[in-house]
Amino acid sequence: MTTTAETEWARHTAGGVLLDGFHALKHALRFGARVPVALATDREAALALTGRLAPDLTAALDGLLREVPAGTLRTLVPRPHPTGVAALARRDSAPRMPWGNAADAPLVVLDNPRNLGNVGAVVRLAAGAGVAGVLTTGDADPWHHAAVRAGAGLHFAVPVERCRSEQLPRRPLFAFDPEGEDLRRVELPAGALLAFGSERHGLTEELRARADHLVALPMRPQVSSYNLATSVAMALYHWMARPE
Ligand SMILES: C[S@@+](CC[C@H](N)C(=O)[O-])C[C@H]1O[C@@H](n2cnc3c(N)ncnc32)[C@H](O)[C@@H]1O
Repeated sequence: MTTTAETEWARHTAGGVLLDGFHALKHALRFGARVPVALATDREAALALTGRLAPDLTAALDGLLREVPAGTLRTLVPRPHPTGVAALARRDSAPRMPWGNAADAPLVVLDNPRNLGNVGAVVRLAAGAGVAGVLTTGDADPWHHAAVRAGAGLHFAVPVERCRSEQLPRRPLFAFDPEGEDLRRVELPAGALLAFGSERHGLTEELRARADHLVALPMRPQVSSYNLATSVAMALYHWMARPE
């Protein structure tokens, strides 16, 4: 027989973003996601974890979490998280562009990324660094549940959207490529677009042609390139460490 928790889950699946695990739920709630349903295979353990890692959310999670058997959770989510927690958040409660400090902070552009783990890692970096948003081109969905899982729920902390390259905002475009000018000599201006190429093929010709500057991350000779998310981390650290 269908339990009430399963019925609630089914009711919110369409238009809902899967928050896989305690940390994704924690971040989404902290950044204002509307979460109509949250499940735990061990409610008491999940609330104890809340007390240790997110005491600010104790009241919210006490009211929200419903216990379900582990077997039920396995039927509802593709790969249950070790914390035994899963929730659905309303996609329409995520921030949209333009947003907050958009005029001053850079926008990160991922040019046709292929690996959803990288996309999620970049969203997490973008949220931590306080950038204005993450835009992706190409056919990978930056809101795919694998990307949201890798982003630890931080898709609700920073705007994340997909667009065509011709829709990118008209702002100074700094494209990252090992052939460019050393980042240590480059000042990234307010509101710049920081663009990174795909894991296999690098920057598309289209984006390269539009770039105002090609920028290289310092790298030892004979190493071909860094991982995509690592490259974004280095660039954002350079921006965060700029003199005030
Ligand atoms: C894994 S790399 C792509 C490697 C790809 N085989 C190529 O030919 O460019 C993914 C992206 O990270 C960035 N990247 C990696 N290493 C870099 C470096 N040393 N300098 C600047 N950007 C770098 C670039 O934007 C690159 O397109």
